[in-house]
Amino acid sequence: MAQSYITSGATVATMAEGAEGYGLIEDAALAVEDDKVRWVGPATDLPAAYSGLERHDDTGRLITPALIDCHTHIIHGGNRAREFEMRLNGARYEEIARAGGGIASTVEETRAASEADLLAAALARADVLISQGVAAVEVKSGYGLDVETELKMLRVARAVEQRRPIRVVTSYLGAHAVPEGSDADDYINHVCLPALEAAHAENLVDAVDGFCERIAFNTAQIGRVFDMAQALGLPVKLHAEQLSHAGGTALAAQYGALSADHVEYATHADAAALAASGTVAVLLPGAFYTLHEKQTPPIQAFRDHGVSMAVATDWNPGSSPLGSLLLAMNMACTLFRMTPAEALAGTTCHAARALALTDCGVIAPGMRADLAIWDVTDPAQLSYGIGINPLHRRIFGGHE
Ligand code: NIG
Ligand code: FE
Repeated sequence: MAQSYITSGATVATMAEGAEGYGLIEDAALAVEDDKVRWVGPATDLPAAYSGLERHDDTGRLITPALIDCHTHIIHGGNRAREFEMRLNGARYEEIARAGGGIASTVEETRAASEADLLAAALARADVLISQGVAAVEVKSGYGLDVETELKMLRVARAVEQRRPIRVVTSYLGAHAVPEGSDADDYINHVCLPALEAAHAENLVDAVDGFCERIAFNTAQIGRVFDMAQALGLPVKLHAEQLSHAGGTALAAQYGALSADHVEYATHADAAALAASGTVAVLLPGAFYTLHEKQTPPIQAFRDHGVSMAVATDWNPGSSPLGSLLLAMNMACTLFRMTPAEALAGTTCHAARALALTDCGVIAPGMRADLAIWDVTDPAQLSYGIGINPLHRRIFGGHE
């Protein structure tokens, strides 16, 4: 449906590449035509061609690109509140995983869940993100670990996009955990790779992910998955260096990955490799917080090397039952010492890069009109508030 309007009076944080910090424009005007931003700048400079359009007054508000949650596991069965209690009693995440809990227990519940039940739960989670100004979300498989359930998860992810005003980018995460009773290499060869081929044939995969860790897969095994991704023309990304230094970041960089995620144990050399390959470091403070981790990601090394940093919820039932991207931004600042400007770049322009989305994440002429309009005056307020949702309204593809 064609529509054109101007919003005026707000402060706009364009998050445009090359702009200082937020790329702020005070007392701005922003013209939307159809699904795109046509013009943005100081209201006094608005070209006459747009001045007759319907006008919305957003004086006193802040407009940012709509937020992008670039790492989630929002499709899953059940919950892991029991495991939360076990950890509070001293059990460690790795111990629970080795004892058949952790990811394996979610796998059991996800296999047992019907597609309709998984979808209903995922839609409820998508609604929570939408209510906080999120317009694009990455969704992973990885709680199936068999062909049928991996495909079921990815079909549910595509269905979320059909049913809600949100873009969904899928990642195939067959290499998430070794199913109980299986050999890791056998699983990769006989389940993970065939499931990837089948999912790709159904057009269910936008990127290929893995978990490189001593409780999951080593670099050689992930390399085989990445080789198939490359052969299919799919980009890769990786859960790397979350609990130990296992070499995943260097591997991700070697394959020109879109992102390396978690990266708490990444080194200076890893940071240099990410910079050279243009791979985004996706920081997931919700998992760090939930697991009481002590090792913070090397933020200063990422800055020094010019690595783009994104921030995401990692919303999953085990290590990060976090349904707030705004809270993830707050945690990125408080726990990882990122600046509020870095946190907002991490959920807009850098998150878009982590998902290879080139038409959103910044406010500029020709970009999709995916906007978040906030009842705040200073963009740092988005990271500063804890458990506060100051969203006034969200615009998705030009539509309110
Ligand atoms: O991103 N690191 C591996 N995968 C998830 C955890 C999944 C789970 O515990 O269920 C993560 O933290
Ligand atoms: Fe994850």
